Amino acid sequence: MSFRLQPTPPARPNRCQLFGPGSNTKLFAKMAASAADVINLDLEDSVAPSDKDVARANVIEAINTVDWGTKTLSVRINSLDTPFWYRDVVDLLEQASERLDQIMIPKVGCAEDVYAVDALVTAIEAAKGRKKRIAFEVIIESAAGIAHVEAIAASSPRLEAMSLGAADFAASMGMQTTGIGGTQENYYMLHEGQKHWSDPWHWAQTAIVAACRTHGILPVDGPFGDFSDDEGCRAQARRSATLGMVGKWAIHPKQIAISNEVFTPSEEAVAEAREILAAMETAKANGEGATVYKGRLVDIASIKQAEVIVRQHEMING
Ligand code: COA
Ligand code: MG
Repeated sequence: MSFRLQPTPPARPNRCQLFGPGSNTKLFAKMAASAADVINLDLEDSVAPSDKDVARANVIEAINTVDWGTKTLSVRINSLDTPFWYRDVVDLLEQASERLDQIMIPKVGCAEDVYAVDALVTAIEAAKGRKKRIAFEVIIESAAGIAHVEAIAASSPRLEAMSLGAADFAASMGMQTTGIGGTQENYYMLHEGQKHWSDPWHWAQTAIVAACRTHGILPVDGPFGDFSDDEGCRAQARRSATLGMVGKWAIHPKQIAISNEVFTPSEEAVAEAREILAAMETAKANGEGATVYKGRLVDIASIKQAEVIVRQHEMING
């Protein structure tokens, strides 16, 4: 470890973030009753420009009246290139109760985008005497966002989570696809005449994970667009979990169980992690830094790997 220690991210489950348009009030009670850890009421791209004012009012009313249980409650505001975002922030901070936990800032391209929202939020919190500090989450979904990802991760002490938004990201990068996450037909290697599909989202995901882990922020995989394809969604979630992400969005209730399953360490994984920790305890007692577990090397680094799994398990189970 560097002399500068890696900060610990917020200790709260973030396995699934369920989205719903702020204009679709019928969904709010269903979202509240769901098994998602985080609820994202959307004011941005699932709401038509003509519905922005109504959606904002709906969302404030829902924050104040719906029983959201113990879920993390977040609102996705409009991006800083629109005429809507300041009104989103002002009305939310002035009119929503302290049940609101978090604001999601989409299409963040530089640290100053977060700074601008932070300045406005900080002023309103002070003016209104709000006691609970609103947290932030951001979406990396542009070329600028991924180019400046590390500075964005360091942009505000309010920042708790960062997601990859595959659709806008692909558009901004000029990627030749309309897919939202998952395997892309033309992204393959050819070996002895056989196609082997690779993962075009991998680089952006790992860049996000590295920035987040450096600054103690939760890295999250965004939407998987084809909600009819459970196995495709599961495969995408498993890749994200393997890379260090802690959760994934759901854009349809079908996807909640998939995320909860994938981002909850399995009983076998937890048992194996505990066995590795026990094996290393024995090794240490014998004055050894390395030993053999099921025919493979485990050493002091394995303790840290195993602890990631055990800590995640303990945090999810309270
Ligand atoms: N949250 C909670 N419940 C939802 C839901 C959501 N996001 N989306 C659908 N449901 C409910 C429906 O109301 C329906 O309930 P019912 O059985 O009581 O009638 C049930 O789940 C099945 O829905 P289905 O008919 O398959 O979908 P739909 O055609 O009603 O809606 C979408 C499909 C994609 C329009 C809708 O899921 C949606 O709006 N998703 C969120 C989009 C979003 O927020 N995008 C921004 C982030 S990328
Ligand atoms: Mg987007």
